[in-house]
Amino acid sequence: MTTEERNPQEHTAEVVMDQRRDRTLTEPLSASFEREHREIDDGILTGVDGAADPSRRAALVDAVCALRRHIYAEEELMFPALRDAGLAGPVLVMLREHAQMWQLLDTIDQLITADGPAEELHDACHGLLDLLARHNPKEEVILYPQVDTLLDLRAASVLRRLLLEGEPPAGWRCQQLR
Ligand SMILES: [Fe+2]
Ligand SMILES: [Fe+2]
Repeated sequence: MTTEERNPQEHTAEVVMDQRRDRTLTEPLSASFEREHREIDDGILTGVDGAADPSRRAALVDAVCALRRHIYAEEELMFPALRDAGLAGPVLVMLREHAQMWQLLDTIDQLITADGPAEELHDACHGLLDLLARHNPKEEVILYPQVDTLLDLRAASVLRRLLLEGEPPAGWRCQQLR
């Protein structure tokens, strides 16, 4: 398909994906995780009251998947190095907050799949946004500044690839809910 034949919206989405890929491969890892916080917030806000609209619903579904992958990346690949560096206390707080978020992600997934009441979806999404508003600044101030120096090149490369195209193993749940 030539560029001329392509739907303009599809073309714009491809350009945005390319830009995101380029940034993720070149910027510090901490910046990629911070950017993903904003992208996930935006996706939830886009879909919170618009699940009847296919594109807004897709934005919410993408944000839910991205947040599950983000939590997986932090818990399995980032936090162990931070814990070893003496940050076990803050890491434990983050794990507890991930568990609260994960339960709301399950609720949102169920409501989307079952086409549940819009009010319940609204409440679950805003509950999640409230948790993220308290959680993300703590990671950005206390934990992320350590990541660029603590993780070796290989670990950083694995995390970058995960942010770009990976997903948690099937059935994976956050640590505090096992
Ligand atoms: Fe987190
Ligand atoms: Fe995070």
